[in-house]
Amino acid sequence: MKRAILIAILMLCASLAQAQILITREDRERAAALVEQMTLQEKCALITGQDDGFHTAAIERLGIPSVRMADGPQGVRNKTNSTYYPCGLSLAASFNRSIAHGVGTGIGWDASARGVRIMLCPGVNIYRSPLCGRNFEYYGEDPYLASETAVQYIRGIQEQRVIATIKHFALNNQEFDRHGTASVADERTINEIYFPTFRKAVEQARVGAVMTSYNPVNGEHAAENKWLIDQLRGWGHEGIVMSDWTSTYTTLGCLNGGLDLEMPQGYVLNYEKVSELVKNGTIDESVVDAKCCRILQTFAAYGLLDLPMKDESIPENYPESRRKAYEAALEGPVLLKNDGILPIKASNKNNIIVVGPNADIIPYGGGSGRMDPIEGTTTTLYQGLAALGKGYKVSLMDWQNVDEAALAKASAVIVSVGFNHDTEKEGSDRTYSLPAGQNELIAKVASLNPNVLVVANSGGEFDVAPWLGSVKGLLMAWYAGQESGRALAAIISGAVSPSGRLPFTFWGSEDKNPAARYYHAVVPAVKQRSKNRDPYPNAEYKEGVFLGYRGVERFGVQPMFPFGFGLGYSTFEYSNGEIETLPYGYRVKFTVKNTGKVPAAEAAQVYVSRTGGSVARPAKELKGYEKVKLAPGESRNVSILLTSGSFARYSIAEHDWVVDKGSYKVLVGRSSADIKLEMPLKL
Ligand code: BGC
Repeated sequence: MKRAILIAILMLCASLAQAQILITREDRERAAALVEQMTLQEKCALITGQDDGFHTAAIERLGIPSVRMADGPQGVRNKTNSTYYPCGLSLAASFNRSIAHGVGTGIGWDASARGVRIMLCPGVNIYRSPLCGRNFEYYGEDPYLASETAVQYIRGIQEQRVIATIKHFALNNQEFDRHGTASVADERTINEIYFPTFRKAVEQARVGAVMTSYNPVNGEHAAENKWLIDQLRGWGHEGIVMSDWTSTYTTLGCLNGGLDLEMPQGYVLNYEKVSELVKNGTIDESVVDAKCCRILQTFAAYGLLDLPMKDESIPENYPESRRKAYEAALEGPVLLKNDGILPIKASNKNNIIVVGPNADIIPYGGGSGRMDPIEGTTTTLYQGLAALGKGYKVSLMDWQNVDEAALAKASAVIVSVGFNHDTEKEGSDRTYSLPAGQNELIAKVASLNPNVLVVANSGGEFDVAPWLGSVKGLLMAWYAGQESGRALAAIISGAVSPSGRLPFTFWGSEDKNPAARYYHAVVPAVKQRSKNRDPYPNAEYKEGVFLGYRGVERFGVQPMFPFGFGLGYSTFEYSNGEIETLPYGYRVKFTVKNTGKVPAAEAAQVYVSRTGGSVARPAKELKGYEKVKLAPGESRNVSILLTSGSFARYSIAEHDWVVDKGSYKVLVGRSSADIKLEMPLKL
C-alpha cells in the first residue's frame, strides 16, 4: 500500500515536474544510503556497462533495476524498429525551437513505450568541415543555434522521464581517425565555439547525462580528462558522465578524471582492476562511491528506482510520434536555388520524372545514428510525389538506365541524389564530391531537359559547382526521416513554402572554408593504428573562433550561400527596428511582414557585432532568432531578448567571460549576409 501511494505521488510529481527534472537533496541522500550498503564488487558493476552493452547493472537485493539505453539522435535504435525523425542538421535548419522540442518529445514517447530510459542523444559537435562523417547528426556550425536546438530537444526527451545524453564532449569534429587524432584548441576557441552547447544543456536543460568523446582534448583522453569533466561539474552537472563506447584507457585515469560510467563494459573499471588499486591504497573507495552516487541520484530523480520502465499507455507505433516526425520534416529542407521551377503547381500538363539513387529509398546517414523505421510507415520521395494525385501523373526512372527520349519530353525532372549510410557515416569522413555517377547523372539530365530540380540528401555542403549553373533548382533535404517523401512533396507542390535555413556556411569550394587547412592532422599513412600511440598526431583548431560565417570578414572569403540563408515562395519586409533597455539586458524589437502571395515562415535572425575594441572578434555572431509564420499581407512584431552574455567574449587572461564596454551593432536580417536593420548600441 505504502509503495502504491509513493508511486502515485511520484507519478504526479513526474507529470508536474514536466519542464525539468532536477536532482534533489532527497535523491542525493537516497543514492548515498544505497551506496553505503553496496559491496565494492556491486559498485564496480554499477559503474560499467552490462549485458549487451546498452544496460546498466541491476543490484536486485537493493532494488536497483537495470536501466536500458539506446541510440540515437534520429529515433530509438538498438533491437527495435521505431519512428525515424529528421536528422540533427535538419532540426537546426528549421530554426524553430518547437520543432526540436517536438522531436525530443516524440523520441521520449518512443523510448518510454519500449522501456528505454537513457537515450544516447543529442549529438552536438560543431560542424567544422563538410567532410566529418557525423555532421548530419549534429546541429551545424553556430554555437547559439546548436545550443537552442539542443536545449529544446533535451527538454522534450526528459519531460517524458527519459534521460538524455549529450555527446561527444568535446572537440570530436572529425570522424577520420577519431580514436587516433588529438584535438588541440585554445581556451577561448573552446569556450566560445565548442563548449556553449554542452554548457547550456547542463544549465538550461539539466541534461541527465554527458558522453565523452573518443579524441584526446589538449593532450588528455576525454574520458580521463579531469580538466574537461571538471568544466561540466563547474556548470552544475550532477548527473552521469559516461564514456563513449571503448574510449577508456587506464583505470587510474578513469577513476580520478571524474568519469562515472564506463561503456559498453568494464575494460578498465572492472572489479579486478579497481579493487587492486583500492586494496593497495592508491585509490580511496570514496572515489568509486561518488560515481555510484551520481548514477543513482540521477536514476532516483527520473523515478527509475520506483516507477515501471515501460509506459504501457504509449503504443510502439504511435501516431503522435509520426506527426512530430512529419512536422519536423516540413521545416528542415533548405531551398538554395529556384529559377522559377518551384513550386510545381497541379496541372494536367504535368509529366514529372523522378530519377536518382535516392528517389525511392529512405536515405539515412550510417553508424550509431542509423535507424530502423517501423514497416509500412515510411514514404519515399517518389511515393510522396506520386501520392499528390490529380494534376501530378509522376513516374520513376531507373537512374542507371535512363530513357533519354522520356527525359527530354518531361515537363520537369526531379533528380534525387546525395549520400547514404554507406557514403556518409560514423567512423570515417566522406568525400566532398557526390558519390560516383551522380554528377554525371545530373549533367546528362540537364543536357536533355531545361527544367531540372536537384533534391539532395547530405549532412552538409558538397561540391555542386559541376552542375549548379545548369539546373533550375536545388533543394537540400538532409536526411529527413520516415516522412521525408510526404514533406518534400508538400514543399515541391507548393502546399508548404520551404522555411529551412542553412545551419552552416555553404562555401562552394572546399578550400574557402577557414578550417580546411587545419582540419585533418598531418598523419603518417598507416592503416592500422594503435589506440595507445604516443604521441598522437594533433588536429590543431588554428582557425580559432573564426569558424564558418565568423570567418567571412576575417579572411575576406565569400561563400556561395551564407549561413542562415534559404529561399521560400514569399517575400518579407523588415521595419520598426528598436532597442529597449531593460534592467537585465536589451529587448530588440522589429516588425516582419509577409509581402508575398502565399503563407510562409520567416526565420528572423539577430546578430551582434562589436565595432572597435582591441580584441579581434567575429564581425557577426548569432544571438537570437525567431521563426514567424505569416499569412500574405500579415505583419508580426517580434521581440528578442539579449542579455549581457550576448555581447561577451571569453578572455584567456581572465579565464572567464568578459563584456567589453563600448560600441556594438545589433543586426537583424534574413541571413548572416542579408541584414535588413542595423541598430547601434553603446554598452
Ligand atoms: C558512438 C556513440 C554511440 C555509441 C553507442 C559510439 O560508436 O560514437 O555516439 O552512442 O557508439 O552506439
